[in-house]
Amino acid sequence: MSDINIAVVPVAGMGTRLLPATKSQPKEMLPVGRKPVVQYVVEELNRVGVERLLFITGSGKTSIENHFDLNLELTQSLREDGKEDLLSELSYERANLQYFYTRQRQLLGLGHAVLCAEPFVGNNPFIVALGDSIIGMHAESKIVETMKDCFREKKADAVIAFEEVPEDEVFQYGIAKPKKNSNGVVFEIDDLIEKPPVDEAPSNLAVAARYVLSPSIFDALKNTKPGAGNEIQLTDAIRLLIQNGGTVYGVRLKKSEKRYDIGNFGSYFRAFTEFALADKNFGPELREYLQQIINEDPS
Ligand code: UTP
Repeated sequence: MSDINIAVVPVAGMGTRLLPATKSQPKEMLPVGRKPVVQYVVEELNRVGVERLLFITGSGKTSIENHFDLNLELTQSLREDGKEDLLSELSYERANLQYFYTRQRQLLGLGHAVLCAEPFVGNNPFIVALGDSIIGMHAESKIVETMKDCFREKKADAVIAFEEVPEDEVFQYGIAKPKKNSNGVVFEIDDLIEKPPVDEAPSNLAVAARYVLSPSIFDALKNTKPGAGNEIQLTDAIRLLIQNGGTVYGVRLKKSEKRYDIGNFGSYFRAFTEFALADKNFGPELREYLQQIINEDPS
């Protein structure tokens, strides 16, 4: 099988949980430390050999296209001013990647967004990486590489990244029901349960924003009825694959591959703080500042 080098990055969602910040800008463009969220996602994909990247986009999302385009005027002006350090901040513009864009014209859910990629992906396996989730500090994770290896070796229909979450948080996520032996990094999945109550969760392994999928997912998506929130859910389509005899594997994120989900203010604030604290120039001074204000008498 040739390398899996196509990625689909859905960025069409409304980001309502981050209003008013997302009223007129995409949540995927919110900064985490120095970069917008979606830049970390693209850099991660670039490092694992992605060559063609399709954004599933929507109205109000053109700043994402502009961000990955060359800005020759800006580069020229920085060069003329001798600002080499700032120029190097734009080197991502020249990544060896081809960008494609299509619009999800009706927001019918993540599953529907992935289905919009069918004419582009055709009969090839592909990666799906959510545009609002960073994996690992500075996105240095190679999880997708491990997932691609698993996909090839096991001749899987889908491979999903999973993160262990505290047991009292399982109700917020799609949770894996692994087959018996689930202790290793890679495990086969019996079922996926969307947002189970704490006492009914088959594990604490939560779906974590990265997928490697065979093109058979498109038929499954076409046969998937709207589920939670009246949206076509990707997890429901993957369940259908399993029910139809497909093999689906999970790959567990390592401790160093923490998932930073930007979808709500709580996790966005945590992500921003961690990335800012890790900043080479400003991190140490921010740490001191935080310690100082936390210790200050609130009265
Ligand atoms: P979310 O469900 O977190 O995004 O989807 P949302 O719908 O924007 O969030 P809220 O609930 O309104 O706050 C995760 C990823 O899938 C994309 C989003 O852009 C996000 O990157 N997505 C979601 C789509 O592309 N299309 C959809 O219909 C839904």
